[in-house]
Amino acid sequence: MAFDLERDLQEILLPPEVIAGRVAELGAQITADYAGRRPVLVCILRGAVMFAADLARRIQLPVAMDFMAISSYGSGARTSGVVRILKDLDVSVEGQDVLVVEDIVDSGLTLNYLMANLRSRRPASLQACVLLDKPDRRQVPVHVQYVGFQIPDRFVVGYGLDYAERYRNLPYVAVLKPEVYEGR
Ligand code: PRP
Repeated sequence: MAFDLERDLQEILLPPEVIAGRVAELGAQITADYAGRRPVLVCILRGAVMFAADLARRIQLPVAMDFMAISSYGSGARTSGVVRILKDLDVSVEGQDVLVVEDIVDSGLTLNYLMANLRSRRPASLQACVLLDKPDRRQVPVHVQYVGFQIPDRFVVGYGLDYAERYRNLPYVAVLKPEVYEGR
């Protein structure tokens, strides 16, 4: 597949078939764990779009899907983990089985905030499913029930993940060449 974007990449970390295989496993696990229930998948825009779309199709249950868009308040506030909700859920999740779908957990601040925010809405249950986990970067502990892959602390893009809003449409997860983002 000849993307011009490929020139900016150091290496492919997770090829499409590896991602697809793991997403199928996660879907099967979620299907078993939520048997008899109708979980609400809460996809966090924008990075989790690809993952949520593929994961939903691997869950053999009548799921609902909803979306939240968030933004951090900038570097100073980022350390406090305060995020701003740009688009909230359209439905109430009170009494629902909520599964948050994220592309990556890094410092953990975003997911930690999101889980606390959603917990205050009194769902019947609340768990998270994250494609990529960078445990070396964690600043706050956050429980993630479903993890796709643990990855090293490298700048990754693709399959939803961006740098400056590009690379999201790469069908794999790749490491970006440092010269692309150095001096940003
Ligand atoms: C990414 C990712 C998580 C967050 C994880 O979002 O989707 O929401 O960062 O980082 P943390 O664990 O250090 O809080 P980003 O701000 O890149 O937005 P995007 O999903 O729109 O790309």
